[in-house]
Amino acid sequence: MLGATLSRWTMSYFAAALIALVVAELLMTLGYGYPGAPVESAQTLVLVHLVALGWLSLLMCGALFQFVPVLVARPLYSDSLPLPTLACLVLGLAALLLGFLQMGGIVSITFAFFPTAAALLAIGFGLVLWNLGRTLWTARPLPLPARFVAVGLCSIAATVTFGIIFTLVLGGVTDNPHLVDVVASGVPLHAIAGLGGWLTFTAMGVTYRLLAMFMLAPELGGPRSRAGFYCGTAALAAAIVGGGTAICLAVSLMLVLVAAGLLGLCALLLYGADILHLYRARKRRVIELNSRMAAFAMGGLAASAILIAVLAALGILAQHAAAVVFLVAFGWLSGLGLAKLYKIAAFLTWLECYGPVLGKTATPRVQDLAVERRAIRWFLLYFLAVWAATAALLLEMPMLFQACTGLMLIASLGIIVQLVRIRRLVDVSVTMRLPPGVSVPRLLLCSVQHD
Ligand code: HEM
Repeated sequence: MLGATLSRWTMSYFAAALIALVVAELLMTLGYGYPGAPVESAQTLVLVHLVALGWLSLLMCGALFQFVPVLVARPLYSDSLPLPTLACLVLGLAALLLGFLQMGGIVSITFAFFPTAAALLAIGFGLVLWNLGRTLWTARPLPLPARFVAVGLCSIAATVTFGIIFTLVLGGVTDNPHLVDVVASGVPLHAIAGLGGWLTFTAMGVTYRLLAMFMLAPELGGPRSRAGFYCGTAALAAAIVGGGTAICLAVSLMLVLVAAGLLGLCALLLYGADILHLYRARKRRVIELNSRMAAFAMGGLAASAILIAVLAALGILAQHAAAVVFLVAFGWLSGLGLAKLYKIAAFLTWLECYGPVLGKTATPRVQDLAVERRAIRWFLLYFLAVWAATAALLLEMPMLFQACTGLMLIASLGIIVQLVRIRRLVDVSVTMRLPPGVSVPRLLLCSVQHD
C-alpha cells in the first residue's frame, strides 16, 4: 500500500512540474538553447534549470512528501509546509531563470535576480530538507530505500550550495577568490550532485520499494543492495567532498572524478543486478504499464552509464557532455518519472475517492481508473523520441534533434491528458464512478482524511 495518509499538495507539485516539462520541450522544439546556442549560454542554462528544478526536482519533492512517510511508516513532519515550500521553489526558479536571461543581456531590468533566487531556493530546499529530514530522523535506523533518500537529500543540499555560490559570484555579490575558483571549476560537481546524487540516487532508493510493491516482488535489502548503497554514497562523497577539496587546494579534479566514476559504475552494476532480480522474482506475472515503462527508463540509465564509459575511453566525454546530460534527464529520470506518475496518480486518486467508502459500497479497482492500451502509445513514442534525440545530439544533427523533441512534446501532452482523465475519473464506468459519499476530486489538491 502506498500509505493511507495523503499528502495534500503532492498533486500541485506534479502539476507545476508537468507545466515546466511541457515548456522545456516546447523551447527545445523551437530551437532554444543547445545545440542552437553554446552549452554555457544563458538560453541553455534556462533550459537546464527548467528541466532540473522545474520538472524533475518539483516532481521528486511532490513524490517524496507522499512517499517518505510510507518508506518509514511515520507521518510527514508537517503537512502544511509543502505549500510555502512550493511557492519559494517556483518563485526562486523564476528569479534564477530571469537572472540567467539578465546575465545573457536578454532581460535588461535592473533587479538583483541572482541573489533573490539564491535566497528563495535556499529557503525552499531548506524547508524540503527540514520537513523530510525530521520525518526520517524519527524513524532511525532507516530501511535501505530511506537511506538512499537521505543521501539524496544531502546531495540536494550540496547542489544548492554550489548553485548559491555561482549566483552570488555571477551576480557580483562576492569576489572572494576561493568562491571564484568554485565557479570556474565547480560546474561538473554541481551537475553530478544534482543529477547523480539528488535525482538519480533518490530515484534508485524509491524504485526499490515501488517496483517491489507494484510487481509483488520481495523487498530487497541484503548484502548486494547494501554494497550498492555504500558504493554509490562513496562515489558521491568522492565527487562532491573530494572534488570541492581539490578545487580549494587547486589540484586536478580529474583523479577524483575518475575514482568517483569507477565507484559509481560499481553502484550501478549492483543496482542493475537487484532490479533484474526484482523483475524476475515478481509474483505478478503480467506487469502493469508503469513497471514495463520503468524498465525502459532503467535501460536509459544503463545506456547513460555505457555512453559515459565509452565517451570517456575515447577521450571525447567533455565534447558530448550535453548528450549524456540529455539522456540522463529524459531517458532515465523523466521516463521513470512519467511511468511512475501514471500509477501514482491513479493510486492516490483511488485512495482519495474510494478509500473512505471501501467495504461500505462497491468500488472500482485502481486499474479501472486508467486505460493502459491508450496510454502505451504515448509512452512508446516518448521513449523512441528521446533515444532518437540523443542520437541526433551525438551525430550533431540539430534539425533532427528539434523534430525529436517535438515528438517528445506530443507524447508528453498525450500522457498528461491520460493523467487528467485518471484524476477526473473519466474512464471509470458510470455505474461504479460515483457511489454515495464520493465526489470527483479536485485536479490540483488532495482532500486529506485524518483518522
Ligand atoms: C537538481 C538541481 C540542479 C541541477 C541538476 C543543475 C544542473 C546544472 C548544470 C548541468 C549546469 C551547467 C549548465 C551549462 O553549462 O549549460 C548548471 C549551472 C548553473 N547552475 Fe545549476 N543545477 C541545479 C540546481 C541549481 C540551483 C538550485 C541553483 C541556484 C541556487 C543553480 C545555479 C546554477 C548557476 C548559476 C549555473 C551557472 C554556472 C556558470 O555558468 O558558471 N543550479 N547547473
